Amino acid sequence: MIADLAKKLAAPFPGTWDRTYVASKVKTDPLYGAVYEELRTSDLPLLDLGCGLGLLAFYLRERGLNFPIRGLDYDSRKIVSADKVAAALIHQHLAFSTHDARSGLPEHSGNVSILDILQFFTPAEQETLLNLAAARVAPGGKLVIRSGLRDDSRRFKITVFCDYIAKASFWMKAAPTHYPTADDFTRILSPHGKVRVEPLWGKTPFNNHLIVLEK
Ligand SMILES: C[S@@+](CC[C@H](N)C(=O)[O-])C[C@H]1O[C@@H](n2cnc3c(N)ncnc32)[C@H](O)[C@@H]1O
Repeated sequence: MIADLAKKLAAPFPGTWDRTYVASKVKTDPLYGAVYEELRTSDLPLLDLGCGLGLLAFYLRERGLNFPIRGLDYDSRKIVSADKVAAALIHQHLAFSTHDARSGLPEHSGNVSILDILQFFTPAEQETLLNLAAARVAPGGKLVIRSGLRDDSRRFKITVFCDYIAKASFWMKAAPTHYPTADDFTRILSPHGKVRVEPLWGKTPFNNHLIVLEK
């Protein structure tokens, strides 16, 4: 049951704020369940760019996916927290490191995820990151992205507003810079394989979409 999973995943986080955030995120956001569905038949290693507190990795482990997962984030506080939680949950083959995705990516061949981080990048940085990530997808693998999409919707305005609140509350180190459109993803990723873009907002008010590149 989702409430039990949320409780289990939140419990090892040291601060009350992080525990509350993790429990609410697992209960209300369809993100991790959607990534699970995309990756559940794969045994390729996963590179999670902008992994934050490492929640995707812990979620996938709790749901029985055991491929190696490497998470990178430029916020060292979140990486320290992810390391502590990984040790507490005694999961194998999880690694978290502090790394700024604007300075390039490590070698990798497998699946790649980019969840809710592209808004912090300029258009040129987004294009570079997407091409670098796509080049690290193995044959038969996927690049799984979630992003707010820039369009005329009310959902988009709410997405931008809430990203500014996240910065003002110091939850995020940076304010949003630029939101890509659906056409940006198709243009940049189609040369690498088959691309699909679909809504992924569940019961949230945001303009979030799932973008999947399959090689
Ligand atoms: C909204 S959070 C999403 C966290 C995680 N992907 C998830 O969905 O649970 C965005 C994350 O991107 C990270 N981030 C932003 N810019 C980054 C960069 N240039 N390099 C690495 N991480 C970055 C932030 O520190 C933050 O943890």
